[in-house]
Order: sequence, then C-alpha cells, then structure tokens
Amino acid sequence: MVEKLRRFDEFVEEALYGDAGFYTFGGQKSDFTTSPETSTLFGDCVAHYLDNVWESLGRPSPYVVIEGGSGPGRLCRDVLLGSLRCRDAIRYVMVERSENQRKKALAEVANSCFADVEELPITTLSDLPNGPLTGVVLANELLDNLCPRLLVKRDEGWNEIYIDGSREISREAPNDAIKMATALVGEVASGVRVPLQLKAAVWVQRAINLLDRGRVLVFDYGYRTTADLVSRPQADWLRTYRNHRRSGSYLESPGSRDITFDVAFDQLPKQAMISTQKEWLELHGIETLVDNYRQIWEKEKNKPDARTLAALTMIKESEMLLDPKGLGGFIVAEWQIS
Ligand SMILES: C[S@@+](CC[C@H](N)C(=O)[O-])C[C@H]1O[C@@H](n2cnc3c(N)ncnc32)[C@H](O)[C@@H]1O
Repeated sequence: MVEKLRRFDEFVEEALYGDAGFYTFGGQKSDFTTSPETSTLFGDCVAHYLDNVWESLGRPSPYVVIEGGSGPGRLCRDVLLGSLRCRDAIRYVMVERSENQRKKALAEVANSCFADVEELPITTLSDLPNGPLTGVVLANELLDNLCPRLLVKRDEGWNEIYIDGSREISREAPNDAIKMATALVGEVASGVRVPLQLKAAVWVQRAINLLDRGRVLVFDYGYRTTADLVSRPQADWLRTYRNHRRSGSYLESPGSRDITFDVAFDQLPKQAMISTQKEWLELHGIETLVDNYRQIWEKEKNKPDARTLAALTMIKESEMLLDPKGLGGFIVAEWQIS
C-alpha cells in the first residue's frame, strides 16, 4: 500500500474530523470541562456583556449573536435563560461543524428556553454566515481545535513538518511560511518548532468581516505571543487526550484521541483587547452574582438545606472559572468593529 504524504495540519484535520476522525465518532474533550460546562455563571456574565454591547450599539433589532463551535449549546441555553434586556431583539446562531452536535444543541435550547414559542430566535449553521450583520460573534474553545501548520528550524533554514505513513519528515518550507515564522519568533535555535495558526486567524478575520458594527470575542487557552509558546516544550502546547488522560504521540492510531493546540494570540488579527478570563468575568459581574450566593451560604451554613447547598455549589464553580492556573488563566480577545 502506498502511504500518502500529508502536511501536518492535513493529517491532524483528518485524525479529528475525517471519516474515522475523533470528533466524527462523537469524541469529546476529555481532559477538563469547558467554562459553559463548569457553571451557568459563565453564561450569566456573557449575557451581561451582550446587553452592554447592545446598549452601546444603540439597541439594534435584530441583534445577531453568532457562536462559533457551539458544541452541545450550553452557552446559548444559559444566555437565553438569563434576564436579558436585549431579549426581544436577539437572534442567536450556533455555528457548529458537527451535524450531531447541531441537532442536540437545537433540541436542548428549544426545550429549555422556548417550550411554547412557535418562531424560535435561534438557529444552527455549519459555517459562519455572510454579512453584513450587526451584533456579536463569540467562541469558547474553538480556536484550539483549528489545526496549525508546523515549522521546524534547522541549521540550514526553516522546514515544514509532513507525515509519511506514521512518521514525521520535514521538507524545506515555502517562503511565505518562513517569513511568517521569522516575524513571529526571530532567530531561534535549531530544533525549535513553530505552529502557524492560519486557520484560527482566518476564522477570526471572517468573523470581523461579517459585522458592520459590533464585537468579536474569543476565549481560549494559550499564550499572548508565539515566542512565549515556543519557549515551552512541544508536549506543553500540542497535547493529546484519551479517556480523561494525557495520551501518547499524535501520530499513534489517528482518530483514537483528541489533539489540541494552545493558541498564540499574536497570530490573530491585530488590535484586539486582551485580558485573562478572570479579569473579563470580574468586569462582567461575576463577583456581584457570587456575593448573593455567599450571603445565603453565610446565613444558613449551620442549618443547610437544598438552597444553601446550591449556593455553595455556585461559590465553588465560580472559584473554578476564576482560577488563574485553570480556566481563569484562559485568554480573552475582543475586537471592536464600528
Ligand atoms: C472544544 S469544543 C467547545 C464547545 C463549546 N464551545 C464549549 O465551550 O463547551 C469545540 C467545538 O468546535 C467545533 N468546531 C471545530 N471546528 C469548527 C469550525 N470550523 N466551525 C464550527 N465549529 C467547529 C467542534 O466540532 C466542537 O464541537
């Protein structure tokens, strides 16, 4: 059998989303839960943000909110279950490449939020729609799923990684890729590897282009600069997971494990406002929300009932969302389009 030579990103794309791909067979992130899965407080803060943006745009109607990589639709559900000021204007579009997830998400949000409503203000799409639209495009943990190309520095210059059967080989990289790698990291030692996150950058640029006015907002794990990222061993920023554990090489049994990449935020379109998830959630009201639960807990902790225990759960969940070594250390990037 003749094995096909594939560029690194094509190999990973096939391993995750091909006919026998990890996500095609219903694989889920298995290392930790995402922020919407951790707590409804995340959706409450996003709802607060969406209301503020709506006001600052002069209360447009329709006000389109597009969520990229919406998975099972938890964030959409939590946003729409909240007390939104923009409720009558909002049209929420879940953009998700997995058909299975699209179906699940639509059913979940419709049943939870719109049991008796005939014309739903939600819909799903497999890719970003065309603009121009007024509103917000957001995404949580989408960009880390968009496979980068991989360059490696050699004594004689820059090479690009390809997969031949089940082993890596490298070939001289094209000039535009070399220029990009050099601009990002400058002179580096032989052996250093640099991911080029072109798909993530293109996704954000398409999101920016489809808005006439509004914001693009992304949450993800990663580093502010590519130089920071490549100063770490590759195993830190290119990870595989299977059955809740770190798994072996991404080359082994393609389709059997998740492959994920830390995002280098300096490769995304310029002029983003950058913060940590902790800072962003604090700006959008998480402390006020949690204070209510703290008061309930303090008052009733000696004779706890179901309400007190639910309050304690919310306090614990907020600590997970804000943990600087965990979800709170994720990076948030926001682009303003006016
Ligand atoms: C890690 S999950 C995050 C799900 C959800 N946002 C959350 O935070 O729980 C990433 C999702 O992005 C989807 N995805 C990957 N590439 C995509 C693309 N180009 N467009 C839309 N969805 C995509 C995957 O199918 C997966 O459901």
